[in-house]
Amino acid sequence: MKVAVIKERRAHERRVAVSPDTVKRMVGMGLEVVVENGAGTDACFADAALAAAGASIAADPASALDDADIVLKVQRPLIDGEADVAELRYLKRGCALIGLLQPAQHPGDVDAYARAGICAFAMELLPRITRAQAMDVLSSQANLAGYKAVIDAAAEFGRAFPMMMTAAGTIKAARVLVMGAGVAGLQAIATARRLGAIVSATDVRAVAKEQVESLGATFITVDEAASHSAETAEGYAREMGEDYQRRQREKIAQALKRTDIVICTALVPGRKAPVLLTDAMLGELAAGSLVMDLAVEAGGNVEGSRPEEVVTTPGGVKIIAPLNIPSRIAVDASQLYARNLLSFLAVLIDQDRKLRIDTSDEIIRATLLTENGAIVNPALAPPATADAAAPSC
Ligand code: NAI
Repeated sequence: MKVAVIKERRAHERRVAVSPDTVKRMVGMGLEVVVENGAGTDACFADAALAAAGASIAADPASALDDADIVLKVQRPLIDGEADVAELRYLKRGCALIGLLQPAQHPGDVDAYARAGICAFAMELLPRITRAQAMDVLSSQANLAGYKAVIDAAAEFGRAFPMMMTAAGTIKAARVLVMGAGVAGLQAIATARRLGAIVSATDVRAVAKEQVESLGATFITVDEAASHSAETAEGYAREMGEDYQRRQREKIAQALKRTDIVICTALVPGRKAPVLLTDAMLGELAAGSLVMDLAVEAGGNVEGSRPEEVVTTPGGVKIIAPLNIPSRIAVDASQLYARNLLSFLAVLIDQDRKLRIDTSDEIIRATLLTENGAIVNPALAPPATADAAAPSC
């Protein structure tokens, strides 16, 4: 079976879906691995290192993808009309495409996968169950995003993070507020603490309080009663009502008076990101303060944040909203992402080294978007009437 990996061509993407380590393991599983020339360059995986691990290097995307049974991607493949290289066109019918396919944001692409007759898997739809932890791309990437956001904030901040007592005077420790204490937020807290900042955090979910406090940060509770019903069965946040949002804004506005840096990571799956910092609230921050909006791709947590721009408010507060933060730490992000996909492959490939798309497995059922020319994902299409038992693809 041939596994193909090509260079990521979408903007702001430096990651790649394979590493020398995963090439070696896939070859060990009896798979043929073909990687497009230069695919790993931005992640510091040279063609020579991938070849030494057992991959064949293809000259271009067409020859890498030709007759591939499995295609590993980070971003959605380019489709006709999007760019010079229409990657999807090279995928053969029946092949498995695995990546961060963003089906809710790009339904037209899902139609294209169905028309192309491929089996497309969206890794962000993976259920957050214990068995799937090793495949959890959202966690592996969000963890690095939380770390990198703090490092980037520290680089941009005109002051130090730790308290320093010097002969020339004492520097006060920076005060960091993290809004949204999920995977990215918890890593942001840990990183800011390691750098010596005094950290506080808030989240709508009740369980976040203990996690935040275990990292040595202070938790800001908005409404304890509401927090107990703020989590879905899948462990995600619900969208909070007007009343909660008003009280959250009042409470956070008070906290901002004592804050130097705000890291915003709040997301609600399938919804626009909640607006947590309004223009008026930004006015509570002192000049020289800094706000990092990690939710900008989902609409943003901060009023006035603009993707990939540093916006300075009239009050001298910088708002930074980078796109695709994991890509800014591409070596580690690719390493972990590639391992996530490798674990996923173990569910897709049977003992005879054949692709086996078994929709009785909840991991497959949740991530599979299209099969046999149809959209089959329960989150995207009406429940299929056909027999769902392990069809061949
Ligand atoms: P996410 O990326 O969807 O959201 C980030 C954070 O924003 C969440 O903690 C959420 O509660 C918070 N948030 C949403 N609206 C907010 C608002 N209005 N104000 C303040 N905060 C708000 O979530 P993420 O990081 O992907 O995961 C959330 C949780 O899922 C984790 O903390 C964990 O409990 C669970 N999880 C479980 C895993 C498993 O394998 N069992 C793996 C990874 C995460």
